[in-house]
Amino acid sequence: MLIKNDSELKGMQEISKVVGTTLRLMREYARVGMTTKELDDYGGEILKRYGAKSAPYETYGFPGYSCICVNEEAAHGIPSAKKVLQEGDLINIDVSAELNGFWSDNGGSFILGEDLNKHQALVDASKEILKKAIYSIKGGVKIADVGYLIESEAKKRGFKVIKNLAGHGVGRSLHEEPENILNYRVKTNHKRFKKNTTVAIETFISTHSSVTDELDDGWTLVGNKGGFVTQHEHTILVNDNAPLILTACNGIWD
Ligand code: CO
Ligand code: CO
Repeated sequence: MLIKNDSELKGMQEISKVVGTTLRLMREYARVGMTTKELDDYGGEILKRYGAKSAPYETYGFPGYSCICVNEEAAHGIPSAKKVLQEGDLINIDVSAELNGFWSDNGGSFILGEDLNKHQALVDASKEILKKAIYSIKGGVKIADVGYLIESEAKKRGFKVIKNLAGHGVGRSLHEEPENILNYRVKTNHKRFKKNTTVAIETFISTHSSVTDELDDGWTLVGNKGGFVTQHEHTILVNDNAPLILTACNGIWD
């Protein structure tokens, strides 16, 4: 959304603090032996305490308050009482919610406990590439150029990007213009980031697949060629210089 005054900025800052705090607390709460449903219920309680509404649950009829992916799951993982977290699991939590008519979105991948399955390089790539991408954005920068940056940084590290998932405008709804802030260059996309707009920038870094397929549950996405995917996401305010990172309190870069 285009931020036109202080009260709109304040609205975006408030909901961003809520989703950022929820993501951070959920990551800290995750333990070996816990189910992803328990983790989701914990996050759902935090959102409720702030008076915020889970975006996937309220808007999309998603069976959970946040999306929680474990190992091969790439996105939109459904919290389940049957999924028990194990040491070394690759976990992704994505929290998006609404408060007072403002929406914000953030997410991050991490390894639970010891890195038994050697996922650290993939996690670090996603984290660091998101940082590079975000700090390259200001008013007038082409969306396609940020996509190019993300893909070329991924390739340098021996990874791929997922091509059918994307960042997006956010603010008065979860997904709004500009849609399709992709992780690669689309030559026909001449759109540019605009000053004073809020957007959700997210990476999708992958070991084997370039596309995700939906499972029969109607939600969960997995790589079409298998392997693992990491994602990190911040909601930001585009400026003339470095963006303001509205969800900074999630601590995904710490
Ligand atoms: Co998200
Ligand atoms: Co998003």
